[in-house]
Amino acid sequence: KSLTLGYDENTIIENLDLKIPKGEITVFIGGNGCGKSTLLRSIARLLKPQQGSVVLEGKSIHKMGTKEVAKQLAILPQGPEAPEGLTVLQLVKQGRYPYQNWYKQWSEQDEKMVQRALEATQMTEFAERQVDSLSGGQRQRAWIAMTLAQDTDIILLDEPTTYLDLTHQIEILDLLFELNETEKRTIIMVLHDLNLACRYAHHLIAVKNKTVYAQGKPEEVISCDLVRDVFNMECQVTADPLFGTPLCIPYGKGRCIMKNNPFEDSVSVS
Ligand SMILES: Nc1ncnc2c1ncn2[C@@H]1O[C@H](COP(=O)(O)OP(=O)(O)OP(=O)(O)O)[C@@H](O)[C@H]1O
Ligand SMILES: [Mg+2]
Repeated sequence: KSLTLGYDENTIIENLDLKIPKGEITVFIGGNGCGKSTLLRSIARLLKPQQGSVVLEGKSIHKMGTKEVAKQLAILPQGPEAPEGLTVLQLVKQGRYPYQNWYKQWSEQDEKMVQRALEATQMTEFAERQVDSLSGGQRQRAWIAMTLAQDTDIILLDEPTTYLDLTHQIEILDLLFELNETEKRTIIMVLHDLNLACRYAHHLIAVKNKTVYAQGKPEEVISCDLVRDVFNMECQVTADPLFGTPLCIPYGKGRCIMKNNPFEDSVSVS
């Protein structure tokens, strides 16, 4: 509600009113530096608004306690860093922190959720490895496991597929899709791959100029004009041959093996 976010004098998001649909998959898109991570961190209570508020189930999130929030939402920030020497298992166990206190120690449920998260991200075999010894993709999956172990109704992920090979990208997105389909979890994420964003999002939000430029179903939102305005890039938009969702094909240079390249000389990018 009337959300203004920024760092010192620098305003990043200005006076934004936005509703995120419950039980759906919402994806933020936008150029580098437009404020997607800032917005996501504020929604997860990691960044205090300069003005306005973030309201969760009728309650201002910045007036709620840390554990109360952590039982309702989990966030995977962009580029997280684990303390040196921490193992994957220790990291994933951190996801259970909101459920522990002085009288309630580690439970069977905690153990079950940790094992389930490791399995879902195919990280069981890496459980005893140190996080800082893993490849970028394995590390990203360890962090996703920690986020899943928190077992919350709302899951926020900032570029969860970064560093992942194509197989693991699809597996992670499919897993989030399943969590949404079968358990009605609300998924809110930032993705840079527009085509995957269109395939998985019920609700797409394009961010530009300190506010939401457009939002709605991907098929209503994505067009050549939007891609030009938001990303300053020319593209063709067609239907994904498998899913029917919008598929953006960018112009640009490359090795063309078509006899009559329909893109050649057809566009100049400003
Ligand atoms: N901690 C910080 N202190 C000062 N400025 C920051 C801080 N974090 C981000 N910014 C600035 O705020 C703006 C928005 O950053 P943000 O990380 O939200 O962008 P983004 O849309 O997530 O970009 P990307 O696609 O590159 O991840 C940028 O200009 C960035 O330099
Ligand atoms: Mg970001």
